[in-house]
Parts: sequence; C-alpha cells; structure tokens
Amino acid sequence: MSEHPPTPHIEIDEQRIERNLARAAEYVRHHGLNLRPHAKTHKSIALAQRQLSLGSIGLTIAKVGEAEVMAGIGDDIDLLLAYPVVDPDLADRLVQLSDSAVIRVAIDSTLACDTLNAAAQRTGSHLGILVDLDIGMHRTGLPSPEAALKLAQYVDQHSKLRLDGLFCYPGQIIAPINDQGAELDTIAALLEETLELWRKAGLCVSVVSGGSTPTLYQSHLLQQLTEIRPGTYIFNDVNTAAGGYCGWDDCAAVVVCTVVSEAVQGQVVVDAGSKTLTSDRLIPPGAGHGNVQGYPLARVTELSEEHGQIDIRQCETRPVLGERVRIIPNHICPCINLQDQVWLKNSDGSLRPLIIEARGKV
Ligand SMILES: Cc1ncc(COP(=O)(O)O)c(C=O)c1O
Repeated sequence: MSEHPPTPHIEIDEQRIERNLARAAEYVRHHGLNLRPHAKTHKSIALAQRQLSLGSIGLTIAKVGEAEVMAGIGDDIDLLLAYPVVDPDLADRLVQLSDSAVIRVAIDSTLACDTLNAAAQRTGSHLGILVDLDIGMHRTGLPSPEAALKLAQYVDQHSKLRLDGLFCYPGQIIAPINDQGAELDTIAALLEETLELWRKAGLCVSVVSGGSTPTLYQSHLLQQLTEIRPGTYIFNDVNTAAGGYCGWDDCAAVVVCTVVSEAVQGQVVVDAGSKTLTSDRLIPPGAGHGNVQGYPLARVTELSEEHGQIDIRQCETRPVLGERVRIIPNHICPCINLQDQVWLKNSDGSLRPLIIEARGKV
C-alpha cells in the first residue's frame, strides 16, 4: 500500500481507536449499560464491526441511507435510527431492511408514527419505536413527560409498531465532566417522571436510550438509561479534547495536508480548506479551525474551499513550504463524511485504506 497518499487526506491511528473503543466498552460493562455507538461519526462498516465485536448491542444511525449501508452487516443487526422519519418513501426504504435487521426509530410526532405504521403495513413488517423526549437541547423531542406519554399511548395503538422505549439526547451538555452533575440530575428527574407516567398508564418498555461523547463517562449518573449512543468517542476531535472529555493523545484522526504557499508574510497556506476540515462551529470559540500538531501557537484562521490559512506569527518554529502538517479537526464527523476513503495507520506506521461506505448518505 502507498505509504505516501496525496494530501489532503485523513489518517487514523488504529492504536488510539482501539484504546478509545476499549475504554468505553469497559465503562459500559462496569456500569451494566448497553453501548449503541453512533455510526454517523465513522460511516464505516469495518469500524462498526469492530465496535460490535467489542460488545456493542447494535448501532445508531442518523439517516435511512446509513441504515441501508449498515444493514449490510447482516446477522440481524440492531439499528436505531435516531432521526424522525416523516417521508413515506424513506419509511418504505427503512421497512425493507427489516428482513436482515432489527429496526427501531426515535420519533416525536403522530405524523412520523402514522408514516412508519403505514410503511410497515405495506411490507407486513414490524418496527420498534422510541419516543423522543426533549431534555434541554430543544432540537427534537417532546416538550414534557405528559406529551411523551400521549405519543407513547398513540404508538401503542398501532398494530405494526412496538413501543420499545424512551429516547433522549443531552447534546446541550458541554460543561466540564465534573460540572455536569446538576444538569444530569435535572435530566434524571425528567426521565423518572416520564417513565413513572408510562408505568401508571400500563406501558411497559425495555429501552431508555441517551448519551453523547461529552457525557459518556457520566452516563451512570442517569440511572434510568439502559443504553448510550456516543459517536465521536471513537476518534475524538478538538471539541472533545478542548472540552476535557478526552486527552489530546486520544485524538485518533488527523487531516494530513501540505503547505502550498508561504508567499504572504506571517502565514502559510495548506491544501485543506472547508471541503476537508469543514467550517463546523467550534466549542469553545476562538481556537480556529483545527489544532496544528507540533505547532501549538499556529492558528488556522481562515478557510476557503481548498485553502487553509495558518497564522504563524506567534510560532517559534513554523511549518515550511512543501511540509506535511497534521491538523486535528474541530469536529471529525462531517470531515469523515467528505472522504471516500481514509487511511488507517498501524502501530508500525504503515498505512492501509479504509473505505467510508456510508459517506454522503445524508
Ligand atoms: C441523537 C444523537 N445521539 C447521539 C449522538 C452522538 O453524540 P456525540 O457526537 O457527542 O458522540 C448524536 C450526535 O450528534 C446525536 O445527534
């Protein structure tokens, strides 16, 4: 295999991935939780299989196209579509997968419920449903325990749907790990109130699905959870390292790029712009568009599609024309989605390609 693929490309350190996966697997084992990693981060069948081989009970996916790819793993793989489906054609595509996979969907509307039930009726299949409760992110999810009960009861009346449980996503929690307690307590109370309402109404469910990378190792504080869905934890990125949710040496994916210009004083330009690094928002703000490895004072200040401008004025040593530099992206998930293949780096430094089968399945 080529030891020197052209830039820009994404290089992934296999040992770091293994460490990240093993740590999460050990944590969930210790706390009696199930792990259902979000495959939108890596979009790779091989990496999904690795997660499953380490004990994950199934996968989370965001889109029907991703479900179609991951259903190819076979063996009745358990897939949770963490995304509402209200389009009949998409619902039809999803239920087709029921032959080779267990399909569950998180929803927050009667329209999604009706659409999925109608699709399941057309194929004679069954779908599992999780009712999405908003626990503070205010993106999707029902606004109250009462509203979640109402939808759960509605789902329960549909012959082709099975009410599997409750779904939530704590995407708003970006506090340092040790400061998450109060927010998690509030969420625990909300989950408990919801489940109590369901119990009183005679609804019996087996799944309470939550989790994210920033809250991964605090998940046991939400005692109602049966499973968690971190995605980013496999690679990590500037968001997770700068947030303190992992160490910088837990970042497994870097964009490798080349300095193509140093003509403008005080800066170098690399061949990775927004079409590689993406212009995804950074948490916390002000740190630029990625972390340049080996040059702590370099700042990726501007991105155009194919150019990344790096301010080197503060650097004691600086990257030079023709040099390859490695940048940890702010947010790895959309970066992976821009690659047909990435390069896996083995412990001996050798590289081999990894196809991103679900790339572009949005
Ligand atoms: C619904 C849902 N669940 C789980 C995740 C995974 O969270 P993280 O990216 O923090 O690992 C995401 C990420 O966007 C999500 O949207």
